[in-house]
Parts: sequence; C-alpha cells; structure tokens
Amino acid sequence: MQSCSFAVYYPVKMTTRILKADPLLDPKDLEELGSLLDRGGIAAIPTETVYGLSAPLFNEKALAEIFRVKGRPSDNPLIAHIGSLEQLDRLVDEPSPLFYRLAERFWPGPLTLIARRASGVPDIATGGLTTVAVRMPLHVCALQILRVAGPLAAPSANLSGRPSPTSAQDALEDLDGKIPLLVDGGKSIFGIESTVLLALDEPVLLRPGAIAREEIEGFLKTKLRDPLLRGVPLSPGMKYRHYAPKAKVHLVPDKERLREFEKRGAYILSGLTSQNLYAELRKADRLGKSDIAVGLDERLLQDEALMNRLEKASR
Ligand code: TXA
Ligand code: MG
Repeated sequence: MQSCSFAVYYPVKMTTRILKADPLLDPKDLEELGSLLDRGGIAAIPTETVYGLSAPLFNEKALAEIFRVKGRPSDNPLIAHIGSLEQLDRLVDEPSPLFYRLAERFWPGPLTLIARRASGVPDIATGGLTTVAVRMPLHVCALQILRVAGPLAAPSANLSGRPSPTSAQDALEDLDGKIPLLVDGGKSIFGIESTVLLALDEPVLLRPGAIAREEIEGFLKTKLRDPLLRGVPLSPGMKYRHYAPKAKVHLVPDKERLREFEKRGAYILSGLTSQNLYAELRKADRLGKSDIAVGLDERLLQDEALMNRLEKASR
C-alpha cells in the first residue's frame, strides 16, 4: 500500500497574555516579563502618555520585530526609555549642559530628549541617525519594568498610522494575537505622546506633546526653535501621516457647518482634550462612522500638541 505524507499548515496566531499592574506588577509577573524581554521578546507596556510596544534597546532582532509587528517604516527611529540616569551612559555620548538641565527638571516625565548617540547603540534603533532619543516615563509600573529591564525601545503600541493606544484595550485592538504579552496599567494619564526636543546646543522642538512649549520656554527662558531646516524635517516621524482613524476627519470652525455634519450622521467631537482624543478617534471607527467632525474653538486652537495631532489625522 502506498503511504501518503502531507503537512497541514494552521494559520499561526499567538495568544497575547495580559498581566495586570495594580499599580505595580506582582514580583512573579515582573519576572515573567523580564525573562521574556531578556530572551528578545516584545511586550506592550503602559506609560503616562500612551502605551508603548517595548523591546530591549540593544537587541537588534527584538527591535526588528517591533518594526515588523507595527508595520513601521525603518527610517523612523525609536525612543529609548530608561528607569534610571545610570542607563543613560550606554546610550548617549557627552550630553550637553542643556540636556542635563532639561532632564533634571522634567524627568521622570513626558519629555523626550535627543542627544548624540553612544557608539554601541544599534543603527536600527536610530534609523541610522547620529543622534538618539531618550526619555524616563512618569509611570510607576513603567519605571518598575525599566529598572529591571531598561533601556527599552518603545514606540506607541499601535499599528503604524493608527491612533496611539491610551488603554490596554486599545493596544489589544491593534496587537492581539501579534505579541506575546501586554501589561495592563489602566488608562494613560496624559493621553498624548511626549514632547520631542533636540537638546544639542540649542533647543529645537521636533514634536509638540504632553509638555507644552511655553512650559519649556518658561523654564529655559528662551524660545524653542522650529524643526524645519531648509525644508528638511529634522525628525523622521514628521513626514509620516500619523494618528489617523479609518474615518475621514474634518476640522470645523463653524457651528452651522458642524450641525450639518451632525445631520448627515458624522461622529461629532466636541469638548476634546488630549486625554480623550485617541480614544474618541478609535470609538468612531468601532461605530463604523465614515466621517468625524471636530468642532474647533479657541481653547483647541491654542493647544499646539492637540492641533498637531488633529491636523495629521485630518490629512
Ligand atoms: O510618549 C511617547 O513618546 C510614546 C511613549 C510610548 O513613550 N512613544 C512614542 O514613540 O511616541 P513613537 O515611536 O511613536 O515616536 C517617536 C518620535 C518619532 O516622531 C521619531 O521620528 C522621533 O520620535 N525620533 C526618535 N528618535 C529621533 C532622533 N534621533 N532624531 C529625531 N527624531 C527622533
Ligand atoms: Mg507613534
């Protein structure tokens, strides 16, 4: 009798394990996460801004996995997250006095500082740039994780181009079955990404974010420069369309037009804040809305970071 051999291929979908942080991880869970990261695994973790998809910064294979899972362009560099100032040594080469002043004032906190990179930092983390982005988050569980496993690279834990996740559920919406582990640390307090600042000799604002320009300018007693250098964006992330829901986003300054959008069944966003922006964009998508209309008022127009995200979402 003729034997017949064949192989059956199942679609590979991993199970994403969820560890609850309340507000810290249990020692056993921390050990499980630490050992996963040690072996080059990747995991979504909470921060005070948005959830991050984390991997050990010096493990190139794990970093490549972040780019693959997110579908992120390879020239868009990652932020290194640290849990202590000692972790800076392997990342940054001779930080400027400006860097130290800002780190001392705003860390832990949602300010990302860019400095010259140390020689051992992998190219894949910096998109081949000579600089590296670093921040120390203001989040007890993130700090708990980073102190044992940092530095960790962590871009926002969304699929590239989607709104950033501000809760474990939102991170799962994009990454369930694609990553082995997610730490649920509740809602992100700021709800919008960190401010990114080039901190070499003079301060340049590369991405407005959770810490307002005015706060940094007030502290430094100097104006922040703007990022365009002869039309070339200094931050690779700036050229990508970010933060976009599936629905079309309309920015509507006129109340009458807003009512027309409402009559036509658009999802209306009023009273928007940094804390609820991304959650609302995701909600509109879940409701299957094809249009989102944002009522612009003076308060919104004054909020540089929120307007930056809205403009990108509406492109
Ligand atoms: O709040 C945040 O910053 C969150 C949480 C998870 O910490 N992370 C985050 O990462 O927003 P990501 O990857 O979504 O955004 C990083 C931004 C990008 O715009 C990137 O281009 C910029 O930082 N960036 C990173 N390294 C840079 C560098 N060396 N020079 C200029 N821009 C850099
Ligand atoms: Mg992002």
